[in-house]
Amino acid sequence: MKKRRSQHWYGKLDKDGFIHRSWMKNQGFPDHVFDGRPIIGICNTWSELTPCNSGLRDLAEGVKRGVWEAGGFPVEFPVMSLGETQMKPTAMLFRNLLAMDVEESIRAYGIDGVVLLGGCDKTTPGQLMGAASVDLPTIVVSSGPMLNGKYRGKDIGSGTDVWKFSEAVRAGEMTLQDFMNAESGMSRSKGVCMTMGTASTMASLVEAMGMSLPTNAALPAVDARRMALAHMTGKRIVEMVDEDLKPSDILTKAAFENAILANAAVGGSTNAVVHLLALAGRVGVDLTLQDFEIGSDIPLLVNCMPSGKYLMEDFCYAGGMPVVLSELKSHLRPARTVLNKDISAHYEGAECFDRDVIHSFDDPVKPAAGLRVLRGNLAPNGAIVKPSAATDSLLETEGEAYVFDSIEDLKANIDRDDLPVTPETILVLKGCGPKGYPGMPEVGNMPIPAKLVKQGVRDMIRISDARMSGTAFGTVILHVSPEAQAGGPLALVKTGDRIRVSASKGALELLVDEQELAARRAAWRPDDPHFTRGYAKLYIDHVLQADRGADLDFLVGKDTRLVTRESH
Ligand code: FES
Ligand code: MG
Repeated sequence: MKKRRSQHWYGKLDKDGFIHRSWMKNQGFPDHVFDGRPIIGICNTWSELTPCNSGLRDLAEGVKRGVWEAGGFPVEFPVMSLGETQMKPTAMLFRNLLAMDVEESIRAYGIDGVVLLGGCDKTTPGQLMGAASVDLPTIVVSSGPMLNGKYRGKDIGSGTDVWKFSEAVRAGEMTLQDFMNAESGMSRSKGVCMTMGTASTMASLVEAMGMSLPTNAALPAVDARRMALAHMTGKRIVEMVDEDLKPSDILTKAAFENAILANAAVGGSTNAVVHLLALAGRVGVDLTLQDFEIGSDIPLLVNCMPSGKYLMEDFCYAGGMPVVLSELKSHLRPARTVLNKDISAHYEGAECFDRDVIHSFDDPVKPAAGLRVLRGNLAPNGAIVKPSAATDSLLETEGEAYVFDSIEDLKANIDRDDLPVTPETILVLKGCGPKGYPGMPEVGNMPIPAKLVKQGVRDMIRISDARMSGTAFGTVILHVSPEAQAGGPLALVKTGDRIRVSASKGALELLVDEQELAARRAAWRPDDPHFTRGYAKLYIDHVLQADRGADLDFLVGKDTRLVTRESH
């Protein structure tokens, strides 16, 4: 049998082996755990500043039980944690930094396989990207969603109801006191956002790609069955090491296509696009924005906020992802999973217990719900829109632009009584792309101007180079590429220009003639960068555009070589 990777650290009988073992023994590990058994790294993004991942210490204990039971040796290690709701300017700025942390930690330490413990939005893709670039056997256990939010006896959803409540306050329909009261009821247990936001979307796609055990996506964070799942995952990773079953065996083009199909069916986050593109870049799968079109005819099956009305707890009790995958079975591509079986093994025998929560393929919540890719002279490299969260009538329109040059411009002016906008105006926001903000924040779902909110307007077309929260909704065109700060045509739009949007034709056109655009381009200068040192400078200098997943250019690909040089 091939010498285990960890034996290059702990199996040596020289000075280096002494050093590697002796210092580990200060934790009370006996001699025999270094006998060549698989050493399993538990890569933990637990943090009190990432409340969504605050249950991961407990789950790590569950994983350890399973690893010991299967004859492995578990070692838990921390990596950077990204608290979506707590970090400024945006957690997305640091996704690639987490990926670097994960990648270098896995590579530098003497482990044979990895369990990724993540959950909050950027932690799942950041960990997967890093792990994929080393390509040791890897499996995911997610935080799991919070219990349903409750307010005045009704269910309320993370994020989605924040946007609704804050518009209601601005419209004078909700008091500030009620608004404050809703805070505590919204987040009443450990776990990630319990809407189908980015965290639950990514957990669902991880399950659809076969990178976790079945049911990982929806089991509530505090459900005892999640602890059992962690235990079973610990057992499974030890077997995966013996089978040498690596991310590169699982994350094939077919797996990404299955993720895209699943994203449509669950009404998943637009953020999945940048994360899947970035992950594909790590494993060398040729995935482009155009590939997301395979999801556009897939109906919305999961009736969860923001596209529907239920929450993740309901989704779990209705049967969770195995039911969704089963409904999609005639569309799913054959693909190997962490079980070393086809994806069909993840939904065999799945039963739906509530058809109002998970609809059947033939009786969907909405037909043709997948993300649409838009292109045209306003977005030569593409932009996206999520029809399931949009107003149908706004998806085919032409209107006049009102332009905000920056987020500060928007915040200072959006509530002005004399803002020259009508419900037909197209709001445009610049400077919120990867380089511009920097980090591509979730500000694309701009608030509706106060004077229109008061008239009852709740949706308008909004276009930007930003992202939006997976919990948000509206007719919001996002990820315009190239971004304004990189000199994309978005930088040239002026208030009063006409813009044409057609989701059905996949078009996004700025109706200004070429000569005028050339004159504007000649006069355009990028803004001064917001950061001139440190990681943020590295990010600004090297970040790829949204259509490439906003990874750093030098992180694309992988390096699976064993590090042989010792430190002493
Ligand atoms: Fe962490 Fe939503 S903010 S999952
Ligand atoms: Mg988010």
